[in-house]
Amino acid sequence: MTDVTDGVLHTLFRSDQGGHEQVVLCQDRASGLKAVIALHSTALGPALGGTRFYPYASEEAAVADALNLSRGMSYKNALAGLEHGGGKAVIIGDPEQIKTEELLLAYGRFVASLGGRYVTACDVGTYVADMDVVARENRWTTGRSPEHGGAGDSSVLTAFGVYQGMRASAQQLWGDPALRGRKIGVAGVGKVGHHLVEHLVTDGAEVVVTDVREESVRRVTDRFPQVTVVADTDALIRTPGLDIYAPCALGGALNDETVPVLTATVVCGAANNQLAHPGVEKDLADRGILYAPDYVVNAGGVIQVADELRGFDFDRCKVQAARIFDTTLAIFARANEDGIPPAAAADRIAEQRMAEGRAARR
Ligand SMILES: NC(=O)c1ccc[n+]([C@@H]2O[C@H](COP(=O)([O-])OP(=O)(O)OC[C@H]3O[C@@H](n4cnc5c(N)ncnc54)[C@H](O)[C@@H]3O)[C@@H](O)[C@H]2O)c1
Repeated sequence: MTDVTDGVLHTLFRSDQGGHEQVVLCQDRASGLKAVIALHSTALGPALGGTRFYPYASEEAAVADALNLSRGMSYKNALAGLEHGGGKAVIIGDPEQIKTEELLLAYGRFVASLGGRYVTACDVGTYVADMDVVARENRWTTGRSPEHGGAGDSSVLTAFGVYQGMRASAQQLWGDPALRGRKIGVAGVGKVGHHLVEHLVTDGAEVVVTDVREESVRRVTDRFPQVTVVADTDALIRTPGLDIYAPCALGGALNDETVPVLTATVVCGAANNQLAHPGVEKDLADRGILYAPDYVVNAGGVIQVADELRGFDFDRCKVQAARIFDTTLAIFARANEDGIPPAAAADRIAEQRMAEGRAARR
């Protein structure tokens, strides 16, 4: 018999990374759709999380990713104070090759079949225009265009939330949330990074940026000529006198190579999955660097898509995203109380909220 002890069913049913309530395998041969919808938890409400469209190496790899990402969404949604559990869907295949209207509609019917237990949105490989199509088949699709009742670009609120996380970090470390005069490095000035720079400049911070795309850098320096540009992320993280480092490009920014050379005393940015592996959070703590957990401070986007179900209201979302300040401070306080890094404290608070949600439903 094949040894399956490390397989996805083992993860699902037996490991600490499992425990998902429901995993749905979806197939529509006519359109070529193969998808996995994973509902990690509905303890706090319908499972919410985006749809990733990606050419996975195997179906097993796709299931594993759906399990992992949906679990992450449970934690993120719990800490964002949303009445949503965590879910995620993955569509298997190269979106450039196989994404068609027929396939997206078939996927939309699978979302419909869950009757509201799963609420979807955009993720890697899916865009607002795709969600407009998926939404034709169900009432539980967010991330749509404003013309189709959606909220559009989520980067404005994501940047605002990261900015609140930075202010909380400044309060924690220097006893004052003001960022005036602080030297802040932003790696990646795309949609989120650009809006973040605007907040920081407005507050009177000294901002240093870098981006692999010249156009992104130019958009920043055209609007804010006082911003300094450095060649690459390696130069940015070694900038003398840097107070805060904001990774706003790709995941894995905090790893065994970068953490030892960081000059900043705070890390707070929008990028997902900044910690390359779980040991990194301790390395940061050992160097006295305060880390504001990525999934907590970048929750502005998910706050926005959750609001779409109620009829999007920007001001209401902004009030909710502003609470990221208090949540970040609560995480630092818990980290100090329990003698653990902030990332572990965030997980504990999220698990507590989910347990309370489960108890309240009984
Ligand atoms: N957009 C949102 O609402 C949202 C919400 C939560 C998390 N995030 C995360 O925040 C990050 C940024 O998202 P975005 O929407 O601004 O994406 P984006 O693609 O608009 O911007 C990313 C920028 O990073 C740059 N970049 C890529 N590789 C780089 C490198 N090695 N060094 C420096 N710059 C590099 C790109 O050129 C681009 O300008 C991503 O990790 C994303 O997953 C975004």
